[in-house]
Amino acid sequence: MADRPILRVRARPASNDTDGTSKRSAGASKAAFPRRAAAAARAAPVRGKAPPPPVVAQPAREREAAPSAQAAAKPAPLPGPLFFAACPGGLEDALAAEFAELGITATAQASGGVHFQGDWSDCYRANLHSRIASRILWRVGRARYRGEEDVFKAALALDWPAWFSVDLTIRVQVTAVRSPLRSLEFVTLRIKDAVCDRFRAAAGRRPYVDTSRPGMRIHAFLTADEVLFYLDTSGEALFKRGWRKHAVEAPLRENLAAGILRLAGWTPGTTLFDPMCGSGTFLVEAAQIAAGIPPGAGRGFAFQHLRAFQQELWESLRAPAPSPGSLASCGVIVGADSDPAAVAMARDNCIEAGVAAQVQLLHGAFVDIDPPVPPGLLVTNPPYGVRVGDREALAAAYPAWGDRLKQRYAGWRACFLSADMDLARHIGLKAQRRVPLYNGALACRLFEYFMVAGRPGASGAP
Ligand SMILES: C[S@@+](CC[C@H](N)C(=O)[O-])C[C@H]1O[C@@H](n2cnc3c(N)ncnc32)[C@H](O)[C@@H]1O
Repeated sequence: MADRPILRVRARPASNDTDGTSKRSAGASKAAFPRRAAAAARAAPVRGKAPPPPVVAQPAREREAAPSAQAAAKPAPLPGPLFFAACPGGLEDALAAEFAELGITATAQASGGVHFQGDWSDCYRANLHSRIASRILWRVGRARYRGEEDVFKAALALDWPAWFSVDLTIRVQVTAVRSPLRSLEFVTLRIKDAVCDRFRAAAGRRPYVDTSRPGMRIHAFLTADEVLFYLDTSGEALFKRGWRKHAVEAPLRENLAAGILRLAGWTPGTTLFDPMCGSGTFLVEAAQIAAGIPPGAGRGFAFQHLRAFQQELWESLRAPAPSPGSLASCGVIVGADSDPAAVAMARDNCIEAGVAAQVQLLHGAFVDIDPPVPPGLLVTNPPYGVRVGDREALAAAYPAWGDRLKQRYAGWRACFLSADMDLARHIGLKAQRRVPLYNGALACRLFEYFMVAGRPGASGAP
């Protein structure tokens, strides 16, 4: 997979108001769009590949319907539900492939997600079943703008009370790429003002703001001359599945773990071993995939609070509990960790996720644990100096891990996710692939090694 192309971007997230009803939040820095922009800005250019626009390739009828700058206050009517599914940077292809399996057709891919157009059933299914998406955003408006007041008027022109109740608390998050506006904090306030004005006019009162646990999240995305308004149909980010009772110091995001399993080509029935499993994210994701447990089975979604919510449709889409037969087909899924507390956390998380019987947990250091049989995929997220562990100690540990792989893991594929770009050099193996990925805001690489059967170490030292 290629690195992300350079874009000259300005990504300044801003979030919400401080009009006395709420606190200013730093949460917007974790939103999908700004990180995409930052990711794009950090990475190297790719020859022959056009830079991905933040929001791309609208269907022709949409382009025709785009309002002129003079008509900023009158966003064009939408042809039907349009959605943007955000995902961790580097997993866009994997997300499009996952959607294709769900019968959801991505209309365009962007940096940090995919666009799709469908009906509400697609939206509900994407929220319930996507393991890779972070959020499913419903686009409710689009307008040209030149200044803050154009954005305000465009937001005021939207019929917010038609979409959700004034009794829901709101949070507005604004992100931008190449926007000429000087302050995203200010435009965030103006959008919040417009939404509240619109509610006051319709209902005689306004929604309160809650930046930590809002009932409805409103996203605005600014390009150089266009603003797109979204309602977040997910609510809490989709990687919050509901099963995580414990986390080690640097847990992997669940949707990144699931995306890595897909990138690595893992399928149920293939042995999976995470020798540094921490709180067990890879293990739980794999076992739930094998068991057919939807990632969203244990949580609610913001779309349930939209006026357009169709209860019966939702009930019909919710998957039944997995049968014991499907659980039995998980294959060998093993996790180990040198820290007994991490093993205990992983065990609790597996219990909470309903996969305790499918996951075997061991206490011990990687170099002391025998490989499970039969060979399969070793996937792990070792400590790296940025957040846990000590760089020097790790540099000393890596060669031992590489030796262990050469000596005992012939026939295995090994994937290491690390923010340490020197991991490949330290481990003494030649990576077949290095895939740039993001764990939250942390730039990482997935290093993939094929441990050739019968020729230990034949994957070669650098
Ligand atoms: C970054 S954390 C893994 C996080 C995990 N992927 C999760 O989502 O919770 C790294 C883990 O490796 C474990 N570890 C460090 N050195 C190890 C070793 N030599 N053998 C086994 N586990 C080790 C640590 O105890 C820690 O739990």
